[in-house]
Amino acid sequence: MSVPILNASGCLDALAAPAVVRSLDTFVTKTVTPLPREGNAPPRIAEVDTGMLNSIGLQNPGIDAFVDDQLPRLADLGVPIWVSVGGFSASDYAHVCATLDGSDLVETIELNLSCPNVEEAPEAAAELVAAARQATAKALYAKLSPATWDVAETARAVADAGADGLSLVNTIRGLALDRERRVPRLARGAGGYSGPGLRPIALACVHACAEAVDLPIVGMGGVSSGEDALDLVAAGARAVALGTILFSDPFAPARIRSEFGLLMTDAVVHGERD
Ligand SMILES: Cc1cc2nc3c(=O)[nH]c(=O)nc-3n(C[C@H](O)[C@H](O)[C@H](O)COP(=O)(O)O)c2cc1C
Repeated sequence: MSVPILNASGCLDALAAPAVVRSLDTFVTKTVTPLPREGNAPPRIAEVDTGMLNSIGLQNPGIDAFVDDQLPRLADLGVPIWVSVGGFSASDYAHVCATLDGSDLVETIELNLSCPNVEEAPEAAAELVAAARQATAKALYAKLSPATWDVAETARAVADAGADGLSLVNTIRGLALDRERRVPRLARGAGGYSGPGLRPIALACVHACAEAVDLPIVGMGGVSSGEDALDLVAAGARAVALGTILFSDPFAPARIRSEFGLLMTDAVVHGERD
């Protein structure tokens, strides 16, 4: 048994690293919004001992330039493409989804429901998914934040609103201070925390959502080995996405695929799986 391996949105510059893209089963784009965004001022990445913080701020060229310029070049890489969609209102999500709906180059749309100024209460998440559902017939994955008090409730709400799958999880808010001056290391102050420290949080979310809804789940959060990937699959994920690890190990997709395969072979040899 193998597991499909994707990149996590925003963690791989496909056109700068096409060989890494080709080592994936699916490429997920950085989140695209209706209008171009420059993102936040630097510094907007800070390494911490258990992962990293980022405050990129949804930098992207906007949906029109994305479709005209980037999408055809991404498609040339020959790997199925999921486009991550963001916005600041239901009509933003609907607009971007409607624009992508006509493109054969897009396999699936992942709705980034953790954008700044977007409420991720269950009803609000459901409203965004419902707006996207009206705008496109493409498969819709809802990407949820781990920072809600009951992620399973949000999962049920987005499933009822028409989501075809879940991507779990996005970053969680964190802060790192400069040890000399005790001031935030990111220009914006707090940022999104990702990497190994997110693993138990991601596992808890995948486990809770797999019990709550009957939707395929892409698990992510600190995956850096085949063991981490297998944990997510055991908790209920059908595919696994790699984020922070790609910044330090571009060979991670191939390595994790092979580690996962060996673990499964061992399990079969020892009679734990058939
Ligand atoms: C630098 C950076 C940029 C990111 N940009 C996005 C983004 O544009 N859209 C999104 O949905 N998630 C974004 N994420 C979150 C990742 O897709 C992923 O959910 C998160 O990092 C957890 O996985 P990881 O611990 O393996 O990195 C970003 C993460 C990082 C580190």
